[in-house]
Amino acid sequence: MADDVDYTRALNEHPEVFYRYPLKLVHGVPLMAPIAQQWAPIENFQARPDDLLIATYPKAGTTWMQEVVDLILNGGDVEKARRAPTYVRIPFLEICSPPPLPSGVSQLQNAPSPRVIKTHLPFHLVPKSFWEKKCKVIYVGRNAKDNLVSYFFFDQMNLTQPDPGPWEEYIKKFMEGQVAWGSWYDHVRHYWDEKQNHRILYVFYEDMKEDLTREIHRLMDFLEVDLPEDVVQKIVRNTSFQVMKENPMTNYKLLPSTIFDQSKSSFMRKGEVGDWKNYFTVAQREAFDADYQRKMEGTNLQFRDEL
Ligand code: A3P
Repeated sequence: MADDVDYTRALNEHPEVFYRYPLKLVHGVPLMAPIAQQWAPIENFQARPDDLLIATYPKAGTTWMQEVVDLILNGGDVEKARRAPTYVRIPFLEICSPPPLPSGVSQLQNAPSPRVIKTHLPFHLVPKSFWEKKCKVIYVGRNAKDNLVSYFFFDQMNLTQPDPGPWEEYIKKFMEGQVAWGSWYDHVRHYWDEKQNHRILYVFYEDMKEDLTREIHRLMDFLEVDLPEDVVQKIVRNTSFQVMKENPMTNYKLLPSTIFDQSKSSFMRKGEVGDWKNYFTVAQREAFDADYQRKMEGTNLQFRDEL
């Protein structure tokens, strides 16, 4: 397939390759089968020193961070940020659809520098060259219960990941790390620990909700970009939940319903902190929190599950 392929068109033209892929273990982490089957080129991916990696556990606010970063790097130029959908502007490193569709790696190999790259890989599966080349990494973490709720709805509408099943069972699967990209607990902890050793900026979804201006300034410092305050405010306005929900370049509505069936749940679903309270029973919350204390013992990483 040509390198300059129109990716969205290609996705639309090959509905036959998409179905709910089973998960397969890669170094102990459950990943969608096409990723596991094409693992070698991902593991051997060659980063460049000026690559910027946006790393998240799924549903932690990846798309939001991608939009904020793209706008910062383009000086707040809103028209430029609408040049292509999120997944074309900032390719997804490990995504693999069965051939003939291009993989994330092949999209990236031909992309000009500086590249911005998305990944959901846990720290220990990130290709080593990112650390050897000392690349900057932005990590977004979101509190476990909201992350779980968001993932539950996403797995209903994302027709390439296993069906989430009933709510009660899904909570258990999440707690056991039996979902795509594995354990939330290991994911958030490992990047937190490794930020001492690498150029990792750790950002919380809840902090972005609380004060996006403040977090954009943190990002600008990290990215060594200076923008006037009116541009910062323009970025804040254009990355609000409502604007991104209506923006065809960020709301994933360009993807065919054979991949994301948004009649089941919107990609831009609610965008809130504390939505978990609408789904967890008191007993479920107590059991989840008790297990959480055990799994998160010994770390000073703290999430807020309400604002
Ligand atoms: P909800 O399902 O809780 O609404 P990801 O991009 O990692 O898949 O994360 C998706 C989650 O981020 C969804 O959460 C989505 O609504 C939320 N989100 C996306 N853009 C947002 C924004 N501008 N403000 C707040 N939340 C946003």
